[in-house]
Amino acid sequence: MPRPTAQQRPFGTSPSGEDVALWRLESGGGVHAEILTYGAVLHSLGVPDTAGDVRSVVVGLPSADAYDKAGGYFGAVVGRYANRIADGRLTLDGTTYELPLNDRGHTLHGGPEGFHTKVWEAAAGSGDDTAWVRLSLRSPDGDMGFPGTLDVRVTYTLDAAGTLSCAYTATTDQPTVVNLCNHAYFNLAGGGDVLGHTLQVDAPAYLPVDSASIPLAGAPAGVAGTAFDLTSPRVLGERVGAADEQVRGAGGFDHCWVLAGAADGGLRRAARLAAPRESRVMEVWTTEPGIQVFTANHLDGALEDAAGRPLERHAAVCLETQHFPDAPNRPEYPSPVLRPGTTAESRTEFRFPHLGGATG
Ligand code: GAL
Repeated sequence: MPRPTAQQRPFGTSPSGEDVALWRLESGGGVHAEILTYGAVLHSLGVPDTAGDVRSVVVGLPSADAYDKAGGYFGAVVGRYANRIADGRLTLDGTTYELPLNDRGHTLHGGPEGFHTKVWEAAAGSGDDTAWVRLSLRSPDGDMGFPGTLDVRVTYTLDAAGTLSCAYTATTDQPTVVNLCNHAYFNLAGGGDVLGHTLQVDAPAYLPVDSASIPLAGAPAGVAGTAFDLTSPRVLGERVGAADEQVRGAGGFDHCWVLAGAADGGLRRAARLAAPRESRVMEVWTTEPGIQVFTANHLDGALEDAAGRPLERHAAVCLETQHFPDAPNRPEYPSPVLRPGTTAESRTEFRFPHLGGATG
């Protein structure tokens, strides 16, 4: 089998005029990943189906400008704090910080000029079994209101079996909070909608939310007996229209599940997504305690993907491995606080067991 490779080419400029590069990783076995230095975006992830037909299983947009204007965080690494911080307020060691509000009175995905809008530094390489690109970003003290200079690294690695891993590290010079995740929109059929996909989420509980998607006070809710019970594979189309107050409020799923083993930080399976007839299957493995499942409830056909196809409602599903929403204000949740002298580390893997690679 050919060895994995990493190659770059230009991808135009960012909205502020900086050069953007596209890094293409090839597994040598038919899987490829394309990653942009703009937003550390996962722009395409080509995966053969069981008949060998390669399609991208993530939604890509035509240009850096299109990613910027689309507003849906397509494929990006979101940060410094993925998901919401209620009222844009966080208190650390007795000091309160005010963050910009960009979602119904709250701070979403690091604020309006979060990491998804930055051009990251890239370094890449390959070996016998892997090809990788490492993206680095320095977020200055006070960036989007957050305290501390934060040095962030995200390494995308594609191995010969076709597994794509995302390894995140962050260090700081002052106490701060950090929650990094990839916001890819997955569609394992390579087009159309995901209503015929099955989804399994390895989680006994989830976080019900208020009308602005902030978790309700109190303990997580058990999934048993609800539309949120995905402990065995369920057809998404049967769940996004469920007569459940939480599902109706969001127009589908836009919720964080509390993963089994959330507290232990080990790498374990979080979710399994399958295209109709299991023609492509993806498992998500993570060290994170939660996974936000978002069924692209806001898409309405107005936006077009990189191939010029309109993106309709539920055209994809985001499987965002992360700490819990508003954890900076919820002492009962796993802590997202990072202090000087320590490194925040997390890892998420996208595995394709139908290709015959290892899954355990
Ligand atoms: C999700 C978030 C949704 C929506 C989406 C981007 O992570 O939970 O409410 O904002 O990102 O369109």
